[in-house]
Amino acid sequence: MRIGQSADLLVVAPATADILAKAAHGLASDLLTNTLLTARCPVVFAPAMHTEMWEHPATQANVATLRARGAIVIEPAVGRLTGADSGKGRLPDPAAIFDVCRSVLAGAPADLAGRRVVVSAGGTREAIDPVRFIGNRSSGLQGYALARVAAARGAAVTLVAANVALPDPAGVDVVRVESALQLRDAVIEAVADADAVVMAAAVADFRPVAPSRTKIKKTGDEPEAIHLTKNPDILAELGERRRAGEKSPSVIVGFAAETDDVLANGQAKLARKGCDLLVVNQVGENLAFGTPDNAATVLVAGGEPVEIPRGPKDDLARVVWDLIAARLV
Ligand code: CTP
Repeated sequence: MRIGQSADLLVVAPATADILAKAAHGLASDLLTNTLLTARCPVVFAPAMHTEMWEHPATQANVATLRARGAIVIEPAVGRLTGADSGKGRLPDPAAIFDVCRSVLAGAPADLAGRRVVVSAGGTREAIDPVRFIGNRSSGLQGYALARVAAARGAAVTLVAANVALPDPAGVDVVRVESALQLRDAVIEAVADADAVVMAAAVADFRPVAPSRTKIKKTGDEPEAIHLTKNPDILAELGERRRAGEKSPSVIVGFAAETDDVLANGQAKLARKGCDLLVVNQVGENLAFGTPDNAATVLVAGGEPVEIPRGPKDDLARVVWDLIAARLV
């Protein structure tokens, strides 16, 4: 009893399907379940089990019950499992579990517990041929910070990552994509049952019409023209689907990178894309891309803008989730 009563944080790692079921139903049949029932501190579960057990409706219902009660159930990692199989269900990396615990102890509110959120991050690559692409400078740092902070606040997070060379954030479901078309499909699939979506990815507006199946050779002196066609505007599509009454996240957030006329361009973009919040960054040399710090103005549909001073990208992520949490119905 005393262990549970005096703890500041309880971490169950690995959390088996069995312990999740017992915790969800309030069993007190051994030392661990007794401790869980007496604890009043935050509880973090780091599940580890075979993919089928994780995906089973019974386990998913138990996880939903625990999350609704405020427990933090980290999404399992994808990879080699005990035995010959591999898939979702691997115990998250200890460093990743530690990250979640540290932010819970630092007082991160669990105000997103029971919510499903989708974050896109990184920058798309549009193939020119098998070895070349049109890309951009997005590192994915801001999107990953958004995903990490949401998971630490209890959300079930799907992170659609376009060409990001960063370790998977703890407790986050990562879907890897390359091109704008792949990103669109992954986001549309993920938002089906989501409460909020944050489009932090830098999406190429255009792609080569017909990427070459073989490497383009430098024959002659004249370079060959690359003909481009427009990519779908994913953020605008999310807004349109919601306006059309389709099942949609109740909060839609965009990012805008601008080099000049930052606020005027941002306001026009907020209206054009039909989102609730638009986080506007000024970009340019040494600003935003690839740096650990960021500053932004959040434009709010039908409200006053919110200034976020220069600071770590995690701090900016926290303010964005505060604004989102206040709008979730
Ligand atoms: N975005 C998107 N699909 C695209 C282009 C952008 O979903 N094809 C999203 C980005 O993820 C971001 C927001 O729209 O959240 C703004 O992106 P930005 O590149 O600044 O806007 P554009 O529509 O490309 O406007 P412009 O190039 O005219 O500045």
